Amino acid sequence: KPLVFSGVQPTGNLHLGNYLGAIKKFVALQDSNDCIYCVVDLHALTAQLVHQDMKSQIRSITAAFLASGIDPQKHIVFNQSAVPQHAELAWIFNCVARIGWMERMTQFKDKTGSKNAEQVSLGLLAYPSLMAADILVYRATHVPVGDDQKQHLELARDIAMKFNLDFADLIRANGTGVDIKVGDEPVHAYFPMVEPLIDGPAPRVMSLKDGTKKMSKSDASDLSRINLMDDAETIAKKIRKAKTDPDALPSEVAGLAGRPEADNLIGIFAALAEKTKAEVLSEFGGQQFSVFKPALIELAVDKLAPVNGEMRRLMDDPGHIDDVLRDGGARARVLAEKTMNEVRDIIGFVK
Ligand code: TYM
Repeated sequence: KPLVFSGVQPTGNLHLGNYLGAIKKFVALQDSNDCIYCVVDLHALTAQLVHQDMKSQIRSITAAFLASGIDPQKHIVFNQSAVPQHAELAWIFNCVARIGWMERMTQFKDKTGSKNAEQVSLGLLAYPSLMAADILVYRATHVPVGDDQKQHLELARDIAMKFNLDFADLIRANGTGVDIKVGDEPVHAYFPMVEPLIDGPAPRVMSLKDGTKKMSKSDASDLSRINLMDDAETIAKKIRKAKTDPDALPSEVAGLAGRPEADNLIGIFAALAEKTKAEVLSEFGGQQFSVFKPALIELAVDKLAPVNGEMRRLMDDPGHIDDVLRDGGARARVLAEKTMNEVRDIIGFVK
């Protein structure tokens, strides 16, 4: 069975982008894979060090996982800081990766903007190195994420590849590697190549106020996003106020080109209804937004209200959530320690 890993940061409210781009896919992958889903609390320190509400943020992401249908008994749900092997492997990867690789990350450039080097934490620069460690400390291969994480996953492959090549002789001597193919090249590797899973009709959910901007936790306008904790009335209001253009919906996907807001709303509908955009357009092509929006409101409320209700119920019992995390952390530590033990051997540390 393929091993799936993914993570979500405990910063700010989860929105529809997080749900459709990531969490809904986490749920779908459970049937045919072993899955490890992580609340990446160490990553939360990179952009902002001090969080007064760290505990409740961690519990709220965990509640969203459970409320969406992730089974913490069949799979592993835990928070990153409970498994110190992530940070240990990240340190080694900091020494494998090059500063230039990190500086080229578009998310790093977006987050630092006009700030100078005195204002940006070293952790923010090294962020993708910890992310690679999250995945590779389990030697996981399949990583469901939104489109914005694609570049970070390419970097994880570069780090794995450089580790494999730099330590090739030691990996062979240690006998813990496996033969894999990279393109057509046979490589005796310790770390596998990770595969991003970014497919589906909503890999990048856009702002409801501007179809060219990503839906994000940090947008100043709450009308730009649907939060998982929004009630039905708020969801309806936000969709009614969502930006559109004056034309009727096209009957084919090609007709969405150059219409970012229409494309976004059709993508959201498709992802929620588990249909393709083409199927949605075969139903709504030729119709006005005044017909489509009420249908989208009904669908969104129908799909999100149960998640919302279950999240609230779970948040009332933090003891249960903490038990889930503690149990998941203990199981994750066993797996991560097996890898780290081999990595320490490969490198040649005296134990
Ligand atoms: P984070 O916490 O910013 O977002 C969690 C997940 O939500 C996806 N996402 C979106 N998908 C579609 N449309 C959007 N507008 C949108 N906004 C966010 C993200 O792509 C992500 O899948 N670096 C990661 C967390 C991480 C991780 C990992 C992920 C840490 N280690 C290892 C995978 C594997 C992050 O900050 O996600």
